[in-house]
Amino acid sequence: MIDTLQIKTTKTSHSRLGETDFNVLPFGKVFTDHMFVADFEDGEWKNFEILPYGPIAMSPAISALHYGQAIFEGMKAYRLPNGEVSVFRADKNFERFNISAARMAMPTIPEEVFMQGIASLINIDKAWVPSEENYSLYLRPVMFATDAELGVKASSTYKFVVLANPSGPYYNKALKVKIETHYTRANEGGVGYAKTAGNYARSLHPFAEAQKEGFDQLIWTDSATHQYVEESGAANVMFILNNKLVTPAVGETILNGVTRDTIIVLAKEMGIEVEQRKVSIAEILEGAKNGSLTEAFAVGTAATVTQIGSIGYDGELYTLAEVSTRTISPAIAKKLNDIRYGLAPDQFGWNW
Ligand code: COI
Repeated sequence: MIDTLQIKTTKTSHSRLGETDFNVLPFGKVFTDHMFVADFEDGEWKNFEILPYGPIAMSPAISALHYGQAIFEGMKAYRLPNGEVSVFRADKNFERFNISAARMAMPTIPEEVFMQGIASLINIDKAWVPSEENYSLYLRPVMFATDAELGVKASSTYKFVVLANPSGPYYNKALKVKIETHYTRANEGGVGYAKTAGNYARSLHPFAEAQKEGFDQLIWTDSATHQYVEESGAANVMFILNNKLVTPAVGETILNGVTRDTIIVLAKEMGIEVEQRKVSIAEILEGAKNGSLTEAFAVGTAATVTQIGSIGYDGELYTLAEVSTRTISPAIAKKLNDIRYGLAPDQFGWNW
C-alpha cells in the first residue's frame, strides 16, 4: 500500500515499556505507549495523529454514550522469527468494520486510514509486540459518534481510534458453557452481524447470570425458537460431529468471524468436511450422549481456538470428551498458529 496519509506524531516523553511485566499480560489491560486517532468532520476523515496513549477529553453529551453509535474490530499482530511483525488478515477486519459502519449509519473509513493508522501505531510501538507462543499484540480499532447533541439521529462527527495491547490468551482453560434459551444476543433484522458496542453490552447481564450458576460462558441460540445454536460468548462456535466440522452459517444474527473463516479454509485444506448450516441444540446434545460429538470449541480473534469442556442445558450438564483426546481442532489450531507466527508458509497471503 502506498503511504499517503499525513500523520502528525507526538511521541510519549515516558515509555512504560520497561515497567511492563511481559510475563503477566491479561487480555485487554495493558496498552502500548501510543494510539492512533482520526476525526470525521465536514464529511471527511482528517486530523490523523499518533499520540501518547491516554484520556481524550469529550463532552458528556456525545451521542455514542447515549445512543450507542459505536463499532470496533479486533485483530492481532504477531512477532515473526526474523523479528518482523505481521498482522493477520487485516483486510478482512477492514471490510467488516465498514459493514458494521454502514449498519450503524456511520461513515465508512477509507482503506488507507484504517491500514496506515494501524501500521503507524505498530511501527512506533513495535517493541511492545510479544514474541512468546500464544502472545500477540491485540489491535483494537474503534469508531464512535461525537456530536454533543441529544436528538436521536446519526451523528455528523466521529472519532476513529486504534489502541494496541500486548496480550496473552483470552481463556486459559476448557469452558463450561450454558446454552442460553431466554436471553438472546441478536435477532433477524437487528445488528448481530455488526461489531457494535450494544451487542456486547446486552450480553453482560445474561453472562453474569450464567456465571452465578457456575458457567464460564454462554452459547447463544436463535431468538425465534431457541432451538438453534448461534455463537458462544463473543466468539463463533464450532463442533466436530461425526468427524465433520459443523458450524452455524453466518447471517444477520451471526458475526462473520475472521478466525471462523480462516479455520474453515484450513479445515477444508486438511481434507475435513465442513458444514455451515443451522445447528440444532437437539443434535448437539444427542451427539454428546452418543459420542458422535467429539469436539466443541469457540473461535475468535481474542479466543483463538478455545475448547468447550461441558455444555449445560435445561438443568443438565453434558460433559464432552476429554480435551486431551481431541485431534481435529488442535491440528487446525496448530496450523493456524504456525502461519500467524511465520513458522509455516503463508500460502494464502494472510500475513500483512
Ligand atoms: C475479538 O475476538 O476480537 C472480539 O471482538 C472479542 C472481544 C469482544 C473480546
